[in-house]
Amino acid sequence: MKSKTLLWALLAGSVMSACATKPVAKEEPTLKSVLGDKFLIGVAVNVWQSSERDTNAVKIVKKHFNSVVAENCMKCQTIHPEENRYDFKQADEFVNFGEKNGMAVMGHCLIWHSQLAPWFCVDKDGKDVSPEVLKQRMKDHITTIVSRYKGRVKGWDVVNEAIMEDGSYRKSKFYQILGEEFIPLAFQYAHEADPDAELYYNDYNMHAEGKRNAVVKLVNDMKAKGLRVDAIGMQGHVGLNYPDLAEFEKSIVAFAGTGAKVMITEWDMSALPEVNRTANIADTVAFRKALNPYPDALPDSVSQRWNARMADFMNLFIKHSDVISRVTAWGVSDGDSWKNGFPVRGRKDYPLLFDREYQPKPFVVDLLKEN
Ligand code: G3I
Repeated sequence: MKSKTLLWALLAGSVMSACATKPVAKEEPTLKSVLGDKFLIGVAVNVWQSSERDTNAVKIVKKHFNSVVAENCMKCQTIHPEENRYDFKQADEFVNFGEKNGMAVMGHCLIWHSQLAPWFCVDKDGKDVSPEVLKQRMKDHITTIVSRYKGRVKGWDVVNEAIMEDGSYRKSKFYQILGEEFIPLAFQYAHEADPDAELYYNDYNMHAEGKRNAVVKLVNDMKAKGLRVDAIGMQGHVGLNYPDLAEFEKSIVAFAGTGAKVMITEWDMSALPEVNRTANIADTVAFRKALNPYPDALPDSVSQRWNARMADFMNLFIKHSDVISRVTAWGVSDGDSWKNGFPVRGRKDYPLLFDREYQPKPFVVDLLKEN
């Protein structure tokens, strides 16, 4: 008996001492472990990723990100191609993917002049519909989509890209037919469909002074009407030479001044020669060899500039993490990026956080190391 007790005591002792000396394996840092207490860290996924066919990219998404947004599959022309036909196949798959992986799922986007199904603003003769008809179509579109994902999509880009850099309204069909009212109407319909969903206004070149002032006014006016506007999305399609970081920061501060949160919703940085500064998909430029200077790899000198500037942006986001609620990269790896086809089709760009071999870029490695 005695010897058995002694044996147990010896065993327990050796287990305890083993526990005491064995170093506890430190979990490998990830973007979400490093940034998760500051803001959501998200990524736009394409349909190959949300259907889990692109296994390399999916590994990265699951490991590093805690939020996803649909790059294309919730846009009008895909989800609502004809007046009486919705196609939810890809959007369902996307929402399931995010949910299954415990991620905050973001909806993009309800009302946008681009990728709009051709039927939306015209009658059967191709003439603009009346304001009443367009209102009803917007209401049906928004209500059907938002209610389908009620309680599952955390927030919606309700209106996308409605204001120009000079602060004027984009002369889209929505604006031509309904005037400025189309924006508050869209927010009203979205709120009615899911009162708990967050609602966002989203746009590019948000550092531009005219756009900044107009968006602040727009959001303040909507809030004064009692409408819910939870965040202002600064897309963040930036380049090596624009925008000026100080102008970008001014907009973060000005937008936060409305009481809404700020989100960086479509972050990427082109490493290629600047052709134009728009993210409007219609503004394309013809291919020329000179515009595609790095068809094999990014030279070290350019890579260093790119990484340093991405780190500057990330530090700016961290500095303002009290008002920034999400930072989302517009794609997983360089090979996925829309920038390879825009504004010049057929270029090789290097705009994202992971390279074509799915390796983290140096500034990401540093960020993970420092934390
Ligand atoms: O899916 C079709 C495919 O069937 C067809 O064969 C092929 C031929 O061109 O086109 C495919 O669709 C493309 C789609 O991406 C999916 O890859 C469209 O042509 C192409 O125009 C579309 O581009 C998207 C663009 O928005 C327009 O919707 C980009 O992937 C997407 O990154 C980009 O995202 C926008 C944001 O929504 C709003 N802010 C600006 C941002 C960049 O433009």
